[in-house]
Amino acid sequence: MYPFKLPLSPLLLLLHMLLSTTTTPSVSTNQHASNMIKNISPQPNMNPHELETLFNIMESISNDQNWRTSYPNPCQQTSSWLGIECKKNNLDDIYHVTRLDFGTHPNPTCMKTATFPSLIFQLPNLESVFFIQCFTHTQTKITFQENSTTILPSSTLQQLSLRSNPALIDTIPPQISSLKSLQILTLSQNNLFGRIPEQIFTLNSLVHLDLSYNNLTGNIPNQLGNLKNLVGLDLSYNSFTGPIPDTIGYLTTLQKLDLSANSFTGKIPETIIELCSLNFLALSNNKLSGNFPKGLNKLQGLQYFLMDDNPMYIKLPKEFSQLQKLQELRLAGSGYSGEIPSSYSQLLNLTTLSLQNNQLTGEIPVEFTRFSHMYHLNLSRNMLSGVVPFNSSFLKGLGRNLDLSGNPGLCLDPHEGDNGIYLGVVNVCESKNSSSSTSSITMPLKNKSKASCGVFRFLFVLCILLWLCCIL
Ligand SMILES: *[C@@H]1O[C@H](CO)[C@@H](O)[C@H](O)[C@H]1NC(C)=O
Ligand SMILES: *[C@@H]1O[C@H](CO)[C@@H](O)[C@H](O)[C@H]1NC(C)=O
Ligand SMILES: *[C@@H]1O[C@H](CO)[C@@H](O)[C@H](O)[C@H]1NC(C)=O
Ligand SMILES: *[C@@H]1O[C@H](CO)[C@@H](O)[C@H](O)[C@H]1NC(C)=O
Ligand SMILES: *[C@@H]1O[C@H](CO)[C@@H](O)[C@H](O)[C@H]1NC(C)=O
Ligand SMILES: *[C@@H]1O[C@H](CO)[C@@H](O)[C@H](O)[C@H]1NC(C)=O
Repeated sequence: MYPFKLPLSPLLLLLHMLLSTTTTPSVSTNQHASNMIKNISPQPNMNPHELETLFNIMESISNDQNWRTSYPNPCQQTSSWLGIECKKNNLDDIYHVTRLDFGTHPNPTCMKTATFPSLIFQLPNLESVFFIQCFTHTQTKITFQENSTTILPSSTLQQLSLRSNPALIDTIPPQISSLKSLQILTLSQNNLFGRIPEQIFTLNSLVHLDLSYNNLTGNIPNQLGNLKNLVGLDLSYNSFTGPIPDTIGYLTTLQKLDLSANSFTGKIPETIIELCSLNFLALSNNKLSGNFPKGLNKLQGLQYFLMDDNPMYIKLPKEFSQLQKLQELRLAGSGYSGEIPSSYSQLLNLTTLSLQNNQLTGEIPVEFTRFSHMYHLNLSRNMLSGVVPFNSSFLKGLGRNLDLSGNPGLCLDPHEGDNGIYLGVVNVCESKNSSSSTSSITMPLKNKSKASCGVFRFLFVLCILLWLCCIL
């Protein structure tokens, strides 16, 4: 990578050394000289042992098997090789590898037979590592060098992200707890299994912990509460069992908590109301039951509450209507009964409300016409009845994102309903006193916009249909 090769003349050597102190920071004089003599290629501006470790790592994972010769000095500032970053250390004044980034474009890809290079933990100043779609064919494990004489090296690592590696198997090794500086640990979308090692909960610098989409099992231990700096915790899509530990209430800086698609049982712990920074809470697809914790309305930052498919079998809690920031509320498939609280209409920022597949009765609250940001409203497969309260402009706004099907008791106001929009409601209500002819007619609304052109009495609807008929 050096633009020119230097002859071993002492004069030029001296000149070069002078130049390199002003341009690129260099290693000590001794090191420099010995490298120059040992190796005719230009001296790397890094520790030769670290450089050799890096070459070994590269040879075990990179597609580019000529890496050693192509990049003899990988920490050189002009090196255009993506996927590696170096920084000069103030203590020894030489460059060290601080970041390795493999797997996704534009970063270098891994070779088919790549396996987890435990040598990375010997890079003394490594700060972040990414292996994404890297271990895909040859089964491999996260390993640590057993007899590394010095435990310290890897303690500089702040981010370890191993994601989308189908061949990364086995358990998470307890030695991961030696990475004392870890702030971000992402082990998502691999094939890891077994329990979470308890030692992981000693990593109290962790800010983000993502173990989603693996085959992890067992309970979440109470030590979870030690991770007091956590901002994001994602354990979704595993096979965790047992209760959500009460100690979760200690994670008061948590903003995102995703426990969906596991087999958690019991109640939502009462302590969850202590998570006052929470804006995203997902508990869908578990076996949670029982009442919601009292004081749920304390979660004033909550924007997303996703809890479909749990065996709740209670009434919908009114407390949700006080969570003013809610944008998505999903409570489908969970056996909720009773009426839909009309106070939910206070959630003016709501864009998605999913209450399908429950046992809800009564009418759709007329106040729901106030939802001005609503984009997706699914009330299908309940036992709702009465007149659909929405006017035509509301219906048009939602279009096919409004689903009221599977509620045999619901009917459409004959004045509002039949405008060609699919709602899944096939009944037209008994006609009001003013009209007579169409009372009690049951008519499917699907595909009938052309056929029923003559029926409409309102100019407004007629105009739209005429226009539709024309363009068709
Ligand atoms: C670890 O130690 C054992 C025996 O003490 C030795 O045989 C082995 O080569 C060492 N492994 C490494 C990676 O240093
Ligand atoms: C992970 O679990 C799924 C579902 O139980 C199973 O189909 C898959 O084979 C498991 N994978 C491994 C690597 O055990
Ligand atoms: C509703 O959304 C708007 C725009 O996104 C935002 O400015 C406003 O603060 C939100 N209201 C509440 C109560 O969160
Ligand atoms: C539909 O209802 C909303 C909310 O009540 C109202 O703002 C809007 O003007 C109504 N639109 C029509 C066409 O009646
Ligand atoms: C509403 O929920 C049902 C049942 O889960 C689903 O089949 C349907 O596609 C949903 N409708 C919309 C518009 O999302
Ligand atoms: C229909 O008329 C009856 C009496 O004539 C009245 O009691 C009832 O409220 C009316 N219904 C509607 C929907 O206007």
